[in-house]
Order: sequence, then structure tokens, then C-alpha cells
Amino acid sequence: MTAVLGVNAVFHDPAAALVVDGRIVAAAEEERFSRRKHGKSPVPFATWELPEQAIAWCLERGGLRPDDLDAIGYSYDPALAPAPDDITADEWEGLRTLYAQRAPRFLATLGLDPAIVRFVAHHVAHAASAHLCADAPSSAVLVVDGRGERASHLAGHARADGSLEILAAQALPHSLGLLYEELTEHLGFRRSSDEYKVMAMASYGTPRHLDAFRDLVRTTDDGGFTVAPVDWTAFAPSSEGEWTDAHADLACSVQRRLEEVLLDLARWLHARTGEATLTMAGGVALNCVANSRIWREGPFDAVWVQPASGDSGTALGAALRVASDLGDRVAPMAGADLGRSWDEDELEAWLRAARIDYDRPADIAEAVAQTLADDGVVAWFQGASEYGPRALGRRSLLADPRHAVNLERLNDVKGREQFRPVAPMVREERAAEIFDGPLPSPYMLFTHDVHPAWRERIPAVVHVDGTARIQTVSAAREPLVAAMLSAFERRTGVPVVVNTSLNTAGRPMVDDPRDALECFGSAPVDALAIGPFIVRRPALGPRAATPARAAA
Ligand SMILES: [Fe+2]
Repeated sequence: MTAVLGVNAVFHDPAAALVVDGRIVAAAEEERFSRRKHGKSPVPFATWELPEQAIAWCLERGGLRPDDLDAIGYSYDPALAPAPDDITADEWEGLRTLYAQRAPRFLATLGLDPAIVRFVAHHVAHAASAHLCADAPSSAVLVVDGRGERASHLAGHARADGSLEILAAQALPHSLGLLYEELTEHLGFRRSSDEYKVMAMASYGTPRHLDAFRDLVRTTDDGGFTVAPVDWTAFAPSSEGEWTDAHADLACSVQRRLEEVLLDLARWLHARTGEATLTMAGGVALNCVANSRIWREGPFDAVWVQPASGDSGTALGAALRVASDLGDRVAPMAGADLGRSWDEDELEAWLRAARIDYDRPADIAEAVAQTLADDGVVAWFQGASEYGPRALGRRSLLADPRHAVNLERLNDVKGREQFRPVAPMVREERAAEIFDGPLPSPYMLFTHDVHPAWRERIPAVVHVDGTARIQTVSAAREPLVAAMLSAFERRTGVPVVVNTSLNTAGRPMVDDPRDALECFGSAPVDALAIGPFIVRRPALGPRAATPARAAA
């Protein structure tokens, strides 16, 4: 047996993953345990901090003790980072390197063997989370994020033996991820956290400044790019929560330029590798609008994106990279449900402890479908939690897509901005009738055009530009979610349900039963479907909006 633990601790989204004999056994983000969104601040001072609870849980899930591990993959290589000669220089960058060098000693405080730690370059870890997880023997690999040790990008060629040849790596300070983060901050959102809000806002704007950004951001002929410093106030005043067309136009212009540059990078990579499949990871690969353009207009037949493309995914990537280097054949990732789960008895014990009324309907999928068809909002807690930022039918808020007002209602339930779209889930075999784009799409990493005939039937999930970020559900892989969708269709004629993550604004996704009960207790949802049980909120008159939460 070969057992490899993967750890991400360097910037933010600390996480752990366990790979045994090339199979992914467990993967989880520390935020789901600590209830602090993104786990920690991405500052050098926080580099020492480890995903302690995620590590402990991964070992427990695998039934392993620390000394059963053969190796620990740590998703940052301090040998590639700026030397810690003067730890205070360059905003304490040297301190980050120093802490990363000392990571084996920090891991020893958790009972782990410092001698088995292997450093995996940040972008190599991202890359492994893509090419070793995709169901493609070989692929072209594109990693784009804010930054790693000294680079912000990797273009590579992954071979059938699991190896990776690096073809290009763009050095800092040029960074598409940091460009987007700066824009996010300028628009009044939280940087390296709220970039998806900028992407949503972009669809409300026009790309008035596209030519300016074509000057500022350019691709080079060696597979990389340059990003000139941007005077953001020249395009729109900085925002503190009030947005005008100027902000939407700026967001739109940068978004468009990002898409163009990614397309150029993909074309270069295709020319160099001749591969049919592109695999992607890195925070920028969570930009589903850009991913769709790469799929539509790019040269590849297939595009596979790691659902945990942010830095949390490097824990899994580091473990897989090391497992492959140790000679294990890595099995493709079957789904994102790699986190914690509870059995029926445990869930019932939680409900009893909370002294809350609950039922066990004959069929939970039918009961939930009926509540949805009656226009109820349902908190859905089923099976193992998701690895990565998307709710994929394990920890979700569900609603009826036929009523446009349900978008507003869900944004109210969650206490978040009204321009944020919510997404549909649809049975895989019905998706092509309703949506145009890459299918199947099990991880919500692409946007699809909604066929005109369906736009009025499911208005809650159609974004202002006529698109939707869909999740296709396979009955073989997700029988319970598929049964709920079928039961909803039998009642309404619509095989689509609104799916958004089960959390309230600014908080990590619900992970354990206590989180679910707390969320249900404070948010105006009509029912909580937790395992085979259902908890219903008594009707107490008209709903009121949740009070707005600052900086949601
Ligand atoms: Fe990264």
C-alpha cells in the first residue's frame, strides 16, 4: 500500500487530501471545519498555519495513523521561491519562504514524520489536480492563477505515464489572476475571494475599454503574457458597494480581455502538444465564462476543469503528483463528493439532540420535489460534502426555477447582492434539450446558452445575458439528486431545479449537521432535507427579507 497525504497551507484555502494506491480517499478544506471562509488570510504571516482538522479527518477517513503514510506532498516549493535573506523585504515575502521551508517541522507538531515531506511546486500541484484527475490518458495542461512561488501560469504536456513536461511558465509580476484580483478590489469586493462576483457583474456591462486592455495585457510568442500596471481609476472610480454602469463596463472589458488571452494561451498549447484534450486548474479556471469560450472557440475537442481549481485543489494535486512519482497509477476523479458524511443514525441523533420536529417520509426525493413544486425553498443535505467552491447536490439550497422571483428570494435567504445569478441542475439526459454548451457538465464550470423556448419557463436561472451555469446530474453517479429531479419533472413538466450553495453570505458552505441546523434556524427556508429526514418550518405569515449583511 502507498498512502500519500497532500497539504495546501501557503496562501489561503488550506486543505488536505489523502490518496491511497492512486485512489482519492478523502479531500477537504479547512474552512468547512473552522467555519472561517477561505481558512485564513493569504498573508506571509499565516503560512505556518496548517489545515489541522482537515488533515486529521483525512487520516481518520482512511483509517490511517500518521506513521502509515509513505509521503506528504506540500503544494509549494520554497527552493523555487524568493530567498528569505531579508524576511521583511517585499511585503515579508521572505517570511513566506522561511515558513514554507520549516513546514516539515510544523507538520511534526501534528505527529507527522517531517522526513517524508516532499515539496511540490505550486503550479505542478495545480496541474496534477487537472491532468491526473481527468479521464484522459494524455492532455495539454493550462494552469492560471494569481501566483505560485515566482510564476502565475504553467503550460504543459501531460503524458499517459502520469509525467508532466513544462512548456512555458509566466514569471511574476505578470499575472492574470492578480489583475483580476486588483479589479475585484477596485470594484469594492474582497480580493482573492469575490472574483466570481466580478464575472457576474461583467455581463451587465459593455466592453468599452477592451482596446485599452488589449494594450495593457498582451500574449507573447513563447506561450506567456505581459500585464502592464493598470490605473484603475482612469476607467471607473473605486467602489465601496455602490455600482454604476462604469463599474460594469470595466468588469466587462477586463473579463473579455481575459477570455481573449486565455484563448491565445490555449491555441499556443494546442499547437505545441497536438493533444485533443485540454485540462485546466488554478483560480482563473473557475471563470466559467472564459472556460466556455475556450470550449466553444478554442482548438481542443474536450476541456476538463478541476472543480477545486482554487488553491485548495493543490492539496489533492500534490498528493496525486507524489503518488504518481512513487509509481502508483492514478485513477481519474469520479466526483467532487470527497468530504465528510454521516449515516442515518448519526443524522437522527443530531435531530433528536436539537429537539426539533422531523419526519421520515417514504421517499425523501418525492417529498422534496413536492415542497419545491409548492414553491418552497429546501435546504438539501445529502451524502459526502463537496471539495471545491461549488455546491453539487450535496450541500445545496433548492427552489423552483419557474418563478423569476425565486432568484431574489434565494439572494435574500443568503443575504447577498441581487445581481448574483443562481444556477440550475438538470438531469444529464435532458440537458441538451434546454441548454447549449459543453455536456455533460457535472461541476458547474461552464456557462451554457439557454434555448430561447426555455428562457421563459425557467426564468429564475437565466442570467441577464441568456446563459446559465448548469450542473448536469447523472442517475448512475447521483441517484438521489436524479430521483428528486425526475419527481419534480413529473409534477411540473420541468426537469430543472435551482441549485445554490447551502450557506449564508460570507460563510463557508455548510458541512456538518450542526451547520445545517444552524443555517436552517436562521435563514427563511421552508424545509431541511437531511438524509432521509425532513424538517419543516411552520408557516408563520408572510416572509420578510433577511437584514442586509455588510460586505456580503
Ligand atoms: Fe494557486
